[in-house]
Amino acid sequence: MSATPRRGVTNDEIFALRWDRGQRDLIGPLHRLYGGDTLALMDRLRDLLKKHWRARPADLRRLDLVRDLNPDWFLSEDMVAYVFYIDRFAGDLKHLPSRIPYLQELGVTYAHMMPCLKPRPGANDGGYAVMDYTAINPDLGTMADFQQSNLQLRAAGISPVIDMVLNHTAKEHAWAVKARAGDPYYQAFYRMFDDDTLPKQYEKTLVEIFPDQAPGNFTYYDDMGKWVWTTFNEYQWDLNWENPEVFLAVLDTILFLANRGVEVFRLDAVAFMWKQMGTSCQNLPQVHDILQALTQATRVCAPAVIHKAEAIVGPQDLVPYLGTGSHAGRESQLAYHNNLMVQFWSTLASGDSRLMTYVLKTHFPESFRRASFAPYIRCHDDIGWAITPEDTAHIPHMDAKAHRDYLADFYNGTYPGSTARGTDFQVNAETGDRRTNGTFASLAGLEAARTPREVDTAIARMRLGHALIASYGGIPLIYMGDEIGMTNDYSYVDNPDHADDSRWIQRPMMDWDATEHTEGPAARISADLRHIMRTRKATPQFAGTVPTRVLDTGHRALFVYQRLGDDRKVTCVVNFTADTQKLWPEDAALRDVPHVDLLSGQALALSHGQITLAPYQSMWLRPV
Ligand code: GLC
Repeated sequence: MSATPRRGVTNDEIFALRWDRGQRDLIGPLHRLYGGDTLALMDRLRDLLKKHWRARPADLRRLDLVRDLNPDWFLSEDMVAYVFYIDRFAGDLKHLPSRIPYLQELGVTYAHMMPCLKPRPGANDGGYAVMDYTAINPDLGTMADFQQSNLQLRAAGISPVIDMVLNHTAKEHAWAVKARAGDPYYQAFYRMFDDDTLPKQYEKTLVEIFPDQAPGNFTYYDDMGKWVWTTFNEYQWDLNWENPEVFLAVLDTILFLANRGVEVFRLDAVAFMWKQMGTSCQNLPQVHDILQALTQATRVCAPAVIHKAEAIVGPQDLVPYLGTGSHAGRESQLAYHNNLMVQFWSTLASGDSRLMTYVLKTHFPESFRRASFAPYIRCHDDIGWAITPEDTAHIPHMDAKAHRDYLADFYNGTYPGSTARGTDFQVNAETGDRRTNGTFASLAGLEAARTPREVDTAIARMRLGHALIASYGGIPLIYMGDEIGMTNDYSYVDNPDHADDSRWIQRPMMDWDATEHTEGPAARISADLRHIMRTRKATPQFAGTVPTRVLDTGHRALFVYQRLGDDRKVTCVVNFTADTQKLWPEDAALRDVPHVDLLSGQALALSHGQITLAPYQSMWLRPV
């Protein structure tokens, strides 16, 4: 009897198997988006994916295999993210690897390097106006430096993450330059109009993103005699995602960068990608088809890679970015939890958790299929007070507009008794709405603290925030400098490219000296954060696969949620006030079973059936 010769699976077979697996999740969205000859588009897509698969380095193919076998890798409780500007954190890409030990000590496994692709010269919206997606910003280094730094990050167990700006390109991008010169193929990459009839109609239902420095959503260019859709700044031209060529061209750059070691793409400003007359042109259903198609196409060629959606939108609009209905388990794997962020600041100001409990309990599922949030307290952008009348209607005597005004006043420090030091941003003349800028520490009161007690309070508020994002579910994002309590950087006004954008207040240069302190606020905040992250990593119930249930205890000062582990639940209790608070747990499982507070390491002492929390204390209670 002759044995069949054995042979291993070839790379082309692996590709074919992944294509078979992915096709069914690609056809639907592409057909809905582009209609016409979907099969011809699928053929072109397969060729594009195959081109990048063939070019994919062996070490990344190995990572693909590892993650195909463990697709929940990014949901592990071990994951901790750090977000930084390469220049402000490490100088440049050559020096970044020397900071890896610092990241490792913080427990970081995910490094979001803020925009680092080649931006337009001059003002560039913090790098979000890209003129070449295949080149690194020369101030930071070369593509070779980028690849080298990515290799070293990966070797240290840290996933490299970059921004993919896909709602718009810089007007200096080669596509835009050709469009401006009159090339109709590239004009179809953007949204251009011969006169202002349609722009005026669209404007009726659009909101202004930067009403101060970039009013309106369209810009007229004399030289070409056309209006161009420019949602953000004049120099950022919105791409026309109704054109399948745009889909293929953007995917081409994503995969090019994936092959250079990027493991997570933060897809920028995704809410705005599709436009439809008579709507706000945000969060339209087609956006979810585009995101599913991008994610599933990436998964065919580079299954190690995942996508994070940046959609800073209201609660009802946010949830679908993690995949609901037919998109469940197929859309972006991560999304910013900006509603948790807004509710954190709201409850910290008012000391009243009712709105937070209502919003987070009502609008958010307890878990997602193969996806989760990235909770955070601050990022490089402003805080938009996404408090809706529909939600405040459920809280007696609360008015949405009045609450938004209160929060803006509280955090710019003008509200009586407030110790926050932030600034108003993009005051909307029509609605009176204001957004807020400021670092975590300055908004929490550290900048204005004069007495040891005020310093303690600010540090306790920061501890509370960091404990919240570490335990709520998904990957917590630590924003560079927050780990040492960096306060507002007012020097941005001296840089002409930054002066008109007060978001630079929360984008300081890293204070490396402060990381060496052994006492004082920086040392204390850093020690708190390290302890919190170490405890998170030792708590399997904090994995992103474990459901998060918000409990309505009726206690206004406390925000309470549970992580529903298979074996044991962890009950997280947060005192959002400067007073001692008591909770009488109704749940017998909590009342009658011995628990330990994972954060303090203390056995839970119930006195007369009450749990006592110190001002701003968080407890993570788990049965012993
Ligand atoms: C995202 C970025 C923000 C930028 C905008 C336009 O919201 O976070 O900084 O201004 O997109 O690209």
